[in-house]
Amino acid sequence: MTQQLTETAQWQALSKHREAFGDTHLRELFATDPQRAGRYTLNVGDLSVDFSKQLITDETLSLLLELAQARGVEPLRDAMFAGEKINVTEDRAVLHVALRAPRGASIEVDGENVVPGVHEVLDRMGVFAEKVRSGEWKGATGERIRNVVNIGIGGSDLGPAMAYEALKEYSRRDLTFRFVSNVDGADLYEATRDLAAAETLFVISSKTFTTVETITNATSAKQWVLEALGGDESAVAKHFVAVSTNAAEVSKFGIDTENMFGFWDWVGGRYSFDSAIGLSLMIAIGPERFGEMLAGFHTVDEHFRNTPLAQNVPALLGLLGVWYGSFFDAQTHAVLPYSHYLSRFSAYLQQLDMESNGKSVQRDGEPVAWQTGPIVWGTPGTNGQHAYYQLIHQGTKIIPADFIGFAEPVTAAADPRGAHHDMLTANFLAQTEALAFGKTKEEVEAEGTAAPIVPHRVFKGNHPTTTILAPKLTPSVLGQLVALYEHKVFTQGAIWNINSFDQWGVELGKVLAKKIEPELTADGTPLPDAHDSSTNALVAKYRELRGR
Ligand code: F6P
Repeated sequence: MTQQLTETAQWQALSKHREAFGDTHLRELFATDPQRAGRYTLNVGDLSVDFSKQLITDETLSLLLELAQARGVEPLRDAMFAGEKINVTEDRAVLHVALRAPRGASIEVDGENVVPGVHEVLDRMGVFAEKVRSGEWKGATGERIRNVVNIGIGGSDLGPAMAYEALKEYSRRDLTFRFVSNVDGADLYEATRDLAAAETLFVISSKTFTTVETITNATSAKQWVLEALGGDESAVAKHFVAVSTNAAEVSKFGIDTENMFGFWDWVGGRYSFDSAIGLSLMIAIGPERFGEMLAGFHTVDEHFRNTPLAQNVPALLGLLGVWYGSFFDAQTHAVLPYSHYLSRFSAYLQQLDMESNGKSVQRDGEPVAWQTGPIVWGTPGTNGQHAYYQLIHQGTKIIPADFIGFAEPVTAAADPRGAHHDMLTANFLAQTEALAFGKTKEEVEAEGTAAPIVPHRVFKGNHPTTTILAPKLTPSVLGQLVALYEHKVFTQGAIWNINSFDQWGVELGKVLAKKIEPELTADGTPLPDAHDSSTNALVAKYRELRGR
């Protein structure tokens, strides 16, 4: 059995170091080291990553790096890139990195190079996407497709939905794109109520093609199309395509497997939007831009794979998370993009991080005796500043945060007066400055503040942040950002010795929902007594309210 994390010499050294670190203030760390910003800023691809406003010293970093070494981050990383089955509970390789490997690269699973297959699917996607974009792909009544509705959930929704939102300005504005995930019928209803079925293509995205939310929504969408177009089943082939690993279920649903785009069991749902799961995104932005996005991912993959840990940006970000989670009791991690286009980015990262590292047993099934993944959250600045930043600045909790900003707006059209982007950026920079350095009692007093108000206006500062600055939000930069977080999550999973690639925690709720669903109906089902008294009573109340 691997040595327990907290018993390693490196962990104990970090514990001691934490005690010695005490309340060391960023004011002090910056004052004593004029080179701090330069020394603690690294570049990867187009991203400049400044972690100088983190509660660290050179000693912290070297102890964290020793920990990474001791916990085998590098061998596990190499095993991932080599196609080894590091998803031990599902006996699968973990090869999202193969999805963005260039044509001609070789990554083997069970002795077979998977890269040609990846490019074969990308090529088919490209041909199909161009047919839709050009109007060559017609609906059942001969109309061209003007609306694309992706139906999927979790990784089969969040990735394409986030990336579509992020890259909207690069998309075909004359086509409408919608993303339906929730089994609440309101989602599909709102997404389709103003669309003409004759001009609408549904992309049914589901790795397993058995996820009940997706199949329920897809079935309702099929009914919506058939009702609108006269009920001829042959319309399905023109209005539905599938993205899945399960050809049998796709064809059972009635979709021609000719119109199915496959991927593989070594692609986890939350790591999949750069696979065929990105089909709706590819239709939106076109194959070329999709390719640029993949190249962005690949740049960071190569960095993660080849850079020594001391300069390895995703590895360092992962180590910082370990530092705060276990040594500062941070429970959450905020990701605060200063780009309106990244409005879904934190929602996407929630699945990536929390479904990956929300675990409490180690790879061998032993319980962990240390903190694992944080609660990830955030919304774009500047909106958050007028809502919850108060708590980050003056509350009682420590909230490490990543601030993500861009030198240029995505489009000059979004800043015709030249007034917005500099203001956005000024806020982006001001927040991390304020969080780090705060405002002392003396400074508040010197402003002539009335004595009883002084404590209310003091900012203690010392709130840790990383600043990620990129030239502009492009497809490539988006790929780089996502890969950065993927490998950060990987690094943390390696340190904590958990399997970041399964998600058994979603199963129990699914099983219980299946059991409860028939109990809610009015077909003479007896009121349940098989649950706890709270659940029984809630089912009874629901039936009463529904008159059942
Ligand atoms: O929530 C569990 C989960 O399996 C996710 O990991 C996955 O992204 C999502 O459901 C959707 O699964 P599928 O693509 O198979 O429909």
